[in-house]
Order: sequence, then C-alpha cells, then structure tokens
Amino acid sequence: MEQQTILHDRQGEVLTGDLSAKGHKKFYIESYGCQMNFSDSEIVASILQESDYRATRNLEEADLILINTCSIREKAEETVRKRLRVFEKTKSTNPGTLVGVLGCMAERLKQKFLEEERLVDLVVGPDAYRDLPMLIAGAEEGSKGVNVFLSREETYADISPVRLDSNGVTAFISIMRGCDNMCSFCVVPFTRGRERSRDPFSIVAEARDLFARGYREVTLLGQNVDSYKWQRPDTDEAVHTFADLLAAVAEIDPLLRIRFSTSHPKDITDDVLHTMANYPNICKYIHLPVQSGSSTVLQRMNRTYDRPWYREKIMRIRELLPECAISSDIIAGFCGELEEDHQDTLSMIEFARYSMSYMFMYSERPGTLAAKKYADDVPDVDKKRRLQEIITLQNRISLEENQKDIGKTYEVLIEGDSKRSADYFKGRNSQNKMVVFPKIKGKSPGDYMHVTITAATSATLKGISAIPS
Ligand code: SAH
Ligand code: SF4
Ligand code: F3S
Repeated sequence: MEQQTILHDRQGEVLTGDLSAKGHKKFYIESYGCQMNFSDSEIVASILQESDYRATRNLEEADLILINTCSIREKAEETVRKRLRVFEKTKSTNPGTLVGVLGCMAERLKQKFLEEERLVDLVVGPDAYRDLPMLIAGAEEGSKGVNVFLSREETYADISPVRLDSNGVTAFISIMRGCDNMCSFCVVPFTRGRERSRDPFSIVAEARDLFARGYREVTLLGQNVDSYKWQRPDTDEAVHTFADLLAAVAEIDPLLRIRFSTSHPKDITDDVLHTMANYPNICKYIHLPVQSGSSTVLQRMNRTYDRPWYREKIMRIRELLPECAISSDIIAGFCGELEEDHQDTLSMIEFARYSMSYMFMYSERPGTLAAKKYADDVPDVDKKRRLQEIITLQNRISLEENQKDIGKTYEVLIEGDSKRSADYFKGRNSQNKMVVFPKIKGKSPGDYMHVTITAATSATLKGISAIPS
C-alpha cells in the first residue's frame, strides 16, 4: 500500500480562485504531485487571469479544464488517466470545452499525449506556461497545441501567483526550478529540466507582499533548495547562497515564519544550520530524504552520500539545532535491494528518529538511469512487505516522539478550524507538527498562540491554551 501524503501526493485537490466570474471565460484546474506543481498552478492562474480567464470550482461550467500532472510514480500517472475519463464525460456534454494537460506528465509524454488521449487539446510543459494564452487561442480555432520546451532561464520571477484555495495564512514561494542531481530512480530531471535559481529580490518582495496581506508563513520551494545560488548576471558581485536567502526572508518580520523544502543531504551546509539557529522565525524542521539506509543501494541510486555521511549530517543537525525535527522520504525495494539493505533502512529510521516520513515502493520510470541500468528485480510481495515494515516502524517512532511532547508548551501558528470540529483550531508548531486545540476568544487564523500539549497520536498533537482564558 502506497501512503498518501500531503507533500508529494495531495492527489485530487482542486484549486479554486475568484468565483465572481460573470462575463469572463472560466478555467478549472486540478493539481497532482509535489508542492512545486501546486505552486505552478498558481502561476498558471495568474497568467490566465491576465488573459481574462477566471477560476471556477465547477467542472461543468468551465470553458477550459486543466490538469497539472505528476510522473513521479506509475500510480501518479494512472490517477491522471482516470481523471481524464471524467473530463471526457464533461466534454461530451459540453463539446466546446478545452482540455489541457500541464506539468511533468505533459513533459514526459509530449506529442504522444495527443495521440493517446483524443480529448486533450493542449499539452504544456512546466517551463512553457507563458505560452498558454497563445496555445488556448489556437485551440479555440481548432488546432491542438503542444509546447514542452524546457528552459535554462525561466523562473517566472516576475509573475505574482494567484493564491488559489488559500487559507490566507500559509503560502508557497518557488525559489528555483529543475534539478541537476540525476538520482537514478527519479524522473524529475527529465520533466523539469536543468536547475536554475530565481533572483532573491523578487523572492523577498513576494514574501514581503504576502506578509503585508496577512500571511504569516512562507515555504521556500525547490527540488534541492540547498543548492540555491544566484549571482547578478555579468558581474562579479558575491553569490547569494541559500543561507543568505533564508536570512533575507527571515529579516522581513519576526512574525513571518519561514519553512523550506526539500533539502538534499549532500548540500545542506553548516551555514544553513547556523542561520536557522540565529532566527527564531526560521522553523526548526528539516525534510532530509534518506531514500535508503544502505550505502550500496545509495550508490546505485546515485545519491552521492553514503550511510556514515548521512548519519554525520543527522548528528550535526542535532548538535547545532537540538529542537529541530527531521523527516524523510524512503523508497522500499529499489533495484538489487537485499534483505540486509532493507534492515539498514530500518536501523537508519531508528537512528534518525524521524518525526515522519513519506514512504514509497520503488516504481520504475521510463528513461531514468535506473530503468536503463538496473533490473527492477525485487518481487512485488517483498516490496510490499518491506514498505509495510518501514511504515509500521515509522508510525511507532512518530508516536513515541509525539508522546515526548506531552507537557511541553509550543508556539503554534493558527491555520484555521480543525477538520473534526469548529470548536477547535488547528495549527503547526515550529517542528511542523500539527496541533489541535480548543478555540479561545480573541484568537483567529494567522495569530500565534502558546499551546501546552496534553495528548498525542502518531500524526497529531492535542493541547490547550497555555494561558488560561
Ligand atoms: N527533490 C526531492 C524529492 C522529489 S520526489 C529530493 O531529492 O528529496 C519525492 C520523493 O519521491 C523522492 O524523495 C523519492 O522518495 C520518491 N520517488 C522519486 N522517484 C521515485 C520512484 N521512481 N519510485 C518511488 N519513489 C520515488
Ligand atoms: Fe529527483 Fe534526486 Fe532531483 Fe530529488 S534530488 S528531484 S530525487 S533527481
Ligand atoms: Fe511529480 Fe513533477 Fe513534482 S514528477 S513530484 S510533479 S516535480
């Protein structure tokens, strides 16, 4: 069983925006995959808004249906195909509706998408969204459009994303695009192209604008944020590193929280850890995907670190940031994984004591280094069992770690009503743990509150206001 996650598999979420769309053409957009895709959909919404389109959450009234797709695992692509069958029905009752496929699957399949899926009018890769208005105009005239050009420069730096389906408190900011790492299992370098960093001034300006509009938390996004680097073109001015960027965003206001994702263990520096320690508003939480605990598997994965190196990183984080929570991504059953490699992964989870992990069965992706070089040779039953063992262990550790929080008091940023009851708020502490607690008068989403933890499950902390009302 593959675990559904917030970070990588927020599947089926629907992004919506301005509903007062009278007199405008309407687009409907669904996003799958990682936060980058959700962030990209907000850029797409902004581009479409400029072309006089407005967002709708009602599929039936859409003139344009867009699906922003993910290719990371086979299952992600299957989900998209299923959604296309639903759009096919909509299109059969509203024949004028255009259907566009965006994102990683569009990039992977290119022109082939039009051949495989007759309902699709537009295929647009992640670096080609500025071309959408032209492609839509062409499609309205009956000519199907494809643009899957991957750029070395595009960062959409000048586009103000339209915040879709926002809670008004937390927002994502893309700071870089693409990935140069070539982990052998991963399709991202092929679907997102070369790594490039966005200029820091536009990032700080976007964060400042969000803060002015009441937002209180920004998450800086990239496939490998620690390799962020930007230098003013054609100058010998100093390079802006990720640590510099973190500090610049943290300086905006002590009430603005900063998170970031994802860190590659090979690139996270002491500078970043020191900057995190220096600013209370940089959240004490690092997502540091290990993928496997076995050095031989890590080598085949082309992760460029081994087990001792990763353990050193964990110890360094614990030393410099004792309050920091660490989470991970883990793949079960990669090519050639032996039982002893799997045991290494389990013992790494024990060692790192992750607050949580996103856990997956290896899924071979066409065109990747692993697909070319290694046999996908771990039998499905073993993949499933190993994944289950990983999940069981992680859940036990998450529960134990959360139980240690009972009795402690945390500053929590209120995000909104809890899912279960309108009498409760939900929010997160610095360590990114979800906390649920009874509402108190005078507090609302976007406010900070001190909450004393009274109970814990493996996924959530429960608490009460530390200051009696
Ligand atoms: N850039 C991020 C991860 C992006 S993809 C990083 O390097 O950490 C998110 C996660 O999906 C990866 O960390 C990995 O655990 C998982 N993943 C990627 N390709 C996969 C594949 N072919 N099969 C199973 N899981 C995969
Ligand atoms: Fe994929 Fe590796 Fe790049 Fe992450 S760092 S996106 S896993 S190639
Ligand atoms: Fe999926 Fe593309 Fe993100 S493959 S995980 S949507 S970068």
